[in-house]
Amino acid sequence: MKVLVIGGSGQTGHRLCEILRQNEIEFLAPARSELDIADAQALHDILNEFQPSMVVNCSGYRSLSRAEQEPSLCFAINRDAIAALADLCHAMGMILIHLSSYLVFDGSKSEPYTEEDEPNPQGVLACSIWQGEQQIRDRCPRHIILRVGWVISARRENMVNRTLTALRLHKPITVASDKLGNPTPAENVAKVFMTILYQLDCDAQVFGTYHYAGVEAVSESKFNEVIYNEASQFEDLPINCIKVVETEQLERLRARRNDRLANRKILRTFGIHAKPWRTGLVRIMKKLYEQGS
Ligand SMILES: NC(=O)c1ccc[n+]([C@@H]2O[C@H](COP(=O)([O-])OP(=O)(O)OC[C@H]3O[C@@H](n4cnc5c(N)ncnc54)[C@H](OP(=O)(O)O)[C@@H]3O)[C@@H](O)[C@H]2O)c1
Repeated sequence: MKVLVIGGSGQTGHRLCEILRQNEIEFLAPARSELDIADAQALHDILNEFQPSMVVNCSGYRSLSRAEQEPSLCFAINRDAIAALADLCHAMGMILIHLSSYLVFDGSKSEPYTEEDEPNPQGVLACSIWQGEQQIRDRCPRHIILRVGWVISARRENMVNRTLTALRLHKPITVASDKLGNPTPAENVAKVFMTILYQLDCDAQVFGTYHYAGVEAVSESKFNEVIYNEASQFEDLPINCIKVVETEQLERLRARRNDRLANRKILRTFGIHAKPWRTGLVRIMKKLYEQGS
């Protein structure tokens, strides 16, 4: 197999590149300066030149609040670029594997979301992600869409380093006690991608949409408490900046009760068992303190 990774500097993309390297699989992961996914000509040229058998898209516009101010940019990256990518992959006979999100759901269900649940995205970012998914379904039948939970890692901005930064700066953070989700270490998502790539490489007909999320589900406030406890083993941090509220008191786009995803289909299809996020968090915390961030 030969793999093109888009977004190889991101949380998941970076880890995927490490695994591909360890497995001696030929891959290319252009930086954004070499490939802006919104540049259709650049996309065409790189696919044409490198001729991958599979393209993994780990890139994306992801700021919930900024997306409301700059919807055109958000849709250009998360929907229009994906449409062009899906067309190119289909025309060139390449399989497209795409990272997506729990955000396609409105968060009102009381159980974890399954792949059969109807999306109902709220806000610009969520709509752009859902419409990006739809472009892939309409244009490139040989695809995998992997929706994942709250991604955490020792890189880039995510719930772990956001909380740590706020605690260190004594900046108040507001978290909800009744908002549930699945922290999902990026390293585990990358391993899931690798398993899927191997199966696709053996011509397994497993195309479609899947969910993957770390076990177990946890409330936002409890997760912040665990982050605090883990970090307190390395440094003294103030706890009084964490303000616990109920979801209704959060700003509109964050006021969702349920970000949970069910892992049944990925288990049934690929035999992938979701891993507990707590062991991943311990590794992330160790790495953050080792690298002094
Ligand atoms: N974070 C979460 O909790 C979460 C949860 C579920 C799903 N997801 C989905 O996963 C995807 C990636 O999220 P992430 O958390 O891994 O993000 P991330 O760590 O911020 O990585 C985003 C990646 O996208 C690249 N990128 C952004 N705009 C680009 C463009 N125009 N052209 C080429 N590359 C571009 C970035 O490149 P630079 O390094 O140059 O910025 C970076 O490599 C998103 O689509 C998101 O919806 C995220």
